[in-house]
Amino acid sequence: MAQTLETIMGYPAVTETQLKEAMEAAVEILRADLPVFTEHFPSSNSFEGFYRPTENVEWTTGFWTGALWLAYSYTKEEAFRSAAQVQVESFYERIRDQVDVCHHDMGFLYSPSCVAAYKLTGDERAREAALLAAEHLAGRFREKGQFIQAWGPVGQASEYRLIIDCLLNLPLLYWASQETGDVRYAKIAQGHIRTAMKCILREDDSTYHTYFIDPETGKPAYGVTHQGNRDGSAWARGQAWGIYGIALSYPQLKDEAYIQLFTRVTDFFLRHLPEDLITYWDFDFDTGSTEPRDSSAAAIAVCGMLEMDKYLEEGLAERYREAAKRLMGALTLRCGNRDHSRSNGLLLHGTYARSSKENTCKDRGVDECNTWGDYFYMEALTRLLTNWEKFW
Ligand code: GLY
Repeated sequence: MAQTLETIMGYPAVTETQLKEAMEAAVEILRADLPVFTEHFPSSNSFEGFYRPTENVEWTTGFWTGALWLAYSYTKEEAFRSAAQVQVESFYERIRDQVDVCHHDMGFLYSPSCVAAYKLTGDERAREAALLAAEHLAGRFREKGQFIQAWGPVGQASEYRLIIDCLLNLPLLYWASQETGDVRYAKIAQGHIRTAMKCILREDDSTYHTYFIDPETGKPAYGVTHQGNRDGSAWARGQAWGIYGIALSYPQLKDEAYIQLFTRVTDFFLRHLPEDLITYWDFDFDTGSTEPRDSSAAAIAVCGMLEMDKYLEEGLAERYREAAKRLMGALTLRCGNRDHSRSNGLLLHGTYARSSKENTCKDRGVDECNTWGDYFYMEALTRLLTNWEKFW
């Protein structure tokens, strides 16, 4: 084991000055990106440091719009607001016309873009888009097994599975219930997380990436990885989705058992950090490995720890708040980009997918920026610098 909670406290916590400097650098890069990435979106990951312009496709475009809303919240600069607003219209059209939405990632797409827009500006078009997305997501709920099917045509036996990432799609459903008064959305989200936590958490507190459900009986069948190193390993980003996902569902569930689930998943993550605190892409790898890092996993975990802060009793809250500040110290120092001529992204050293003997992925976005890493890094900076109302 690489770390204990005590050894993590031995690292320097990020300071206010470092946070402000990192935030200013991030905002400056976003400002320089606006001419290219207003009518277009950045690709999911960078290529040799640079995102390419794409249409509003894949599961990742909402992060860019979300980063613009974070920049607007921090600076109040009109340029960020108007660019994000242009993209809200694109999100409305995407869900209206059902473009690349045969999957569960409605929360990733619509919470940081349209729910954020509605919360910040009261924009009714954004609200309508987010509610359409919530309805679409709810349609993927499978009564048999009580879960939201991640990918593929709903009900298809070969696709009858949930994935840990989906925990971040649930806040869209909680929000939809709050907005409409229809409890169906929240009940679906609660059903999903209860099923997910029963299957994906292993005895050693690591998590499966995906879990198949038997379509005949609705019973959990078996866990396999998609993006991890092995079926039995802990994919770092998956574990991070678990941390933040539990924190986001906790106030909806009001079930004390979820505090323990949170500490188990989070402590596993912290204990397996390498010496420089920047996560490898899978926890099979540790200090000294030549495998690539996934900085985005660390940024997501920081946001989860900071979100859970308000629900924990002070001793426990302090433990995770302080751990989060150590991870942010490492991220701002080693991964925060400050040079637009080096990269047009914010957080260096992410990994979208890494091929291994046991997964079916091809290398993609290895040691590159990715839009969710950028977004969660900026969200973490925002959380530590301001009194932020979450978009989730
Ligand atoms: N949600 C997909 C991923 O984390 O790569």
